[in-house]
Amino acid sequence: MKNLCDKYRIPTAKYKTFTDPSAAKKYIQEQGAPIVVKADGLAAGKGVIVAMTLEEAYEAVDSMLIENVFGTAGCRIVVEEFLEGEEASFFALVDGENAIPLESAQDHKRVGDGDTGPNTGGMGAYSPAPILTKELQSVVMESIILPTVKGMSAEGCKFVGVLYAGLMIEKKSGLPKLIEYNVRFGDPECQVLMVRLESDLAQVLLAACRGELTGVTLNWSPGSAMVVVMASKGYPGSYEKGTVIRNLEEAEQVAPSVKIFHAGTALDSDGNFIATGGRVLGVTAKGKDLEEARDRAYQAVEEINWPGGFYRRDIGWRALPQKQFASQG
Ligand SMILES: Nc1ncnc2c1ncn2[C@@H]1O[C@H](COP(=O)(O)OP(=O)(O)O)[C@@H](O)[C@H]1O
Ligand SMILES: [Mg+2]
Repeated sequence: MKNLCDKYRIPTAKYKTFTDPSAAKKYIQEQGAPIVVKADGLAAGKGVIVAMTLEEAYEAVDSMLIENVFGTAGCRIVVEEFLEGEEASFFALVDGENAIPLESAQDHKRVGDGDTGPNTGGMGAYSPAPILTKELQSVVMESIILPTVKGMSAEGCKFVGVLYAGLMIEKKSGLPKLIEYNVRFGDPECQVLMVRLESDLAQVLLAACRGELTGVTLNWSPGSAMVVVMASKGYPGSYEKGTVIRNLEEAEQVAPSVKIFHAGTALDSDGNFIATGGRVLGVTAKGKDLEEARDRAYQAVEEINWPGGFYRRDIGWRALPQKQFASQG
């Protein structure tokens, strides 16, 4: 991705790649902290160290290049500039030559209220994300998404599918830089996008496969959607499996537009839902605005009877005035 950004002038954090630990440390010393150290390969979501001090950065280099904690995924590293700003996710559907934007969404990666504690797969999300204004969305399409799609095609490596850009909207310039690409929908952003999508998803995916996205437009429900993730207590660390979840049907009835997505459940021999994973439920609702969507989603969450689970009480906090919710259990 970084090579493609260089070649097609796509804005991203300045960087260098290394296989030699002392060369990496020398570069880190020259650049100063904060600085970001990334394993080049796949590392189960744990391969990025945002180092606030030089010491932390050196430790990251040693753990990846000398101790090989990520195996071969960490034998090459990327050291990159620390970007300061607000993160946002941007999704586009790509047909190999052209791309159409999906609506914006923003997720919450940290496990605890106020964005504290360890990183997770995502504890909640909302759509649209007010930070991605219409102007900013066209900047992202013109400066990041379309050059990527054209670049991939020019490299003889056409991309067809969902392109998920992780962005940093830089504080100092207000402009977006590309942090990473994922080539799939994001969870939990997908839940809020899907409940807002009014067009036929199968039709647009088929159009993408056939290289026929030009001229396709998508219809979205007005207003907002929010998803609150319910996870097993202990997640993202170790957690108990098989705890019983009750009242799911009642929770879906408690407010209009509530939809509960199951991510890690099964039925036990008595027909009860039990939790089988870390992130277990995506409790989603729509509303005329973000506040209404949030109130409905949390009403449903509070109706669910799951002593083995927990959730964040502040999903949407960046976009909403502060309001606290009673925590369960
Ligand atoms: N250059 C950067 N500056 C500041 N924060 C960063 C930078 N790169 C990554 N991060 C932070 O680290 C997180 C994980 O990095 P990312 O590249 O998305 O890797 P992955 O999601 O594959 O673990 C990002 O969501 C962001 O919070
Ligand atoms: Mg990421």
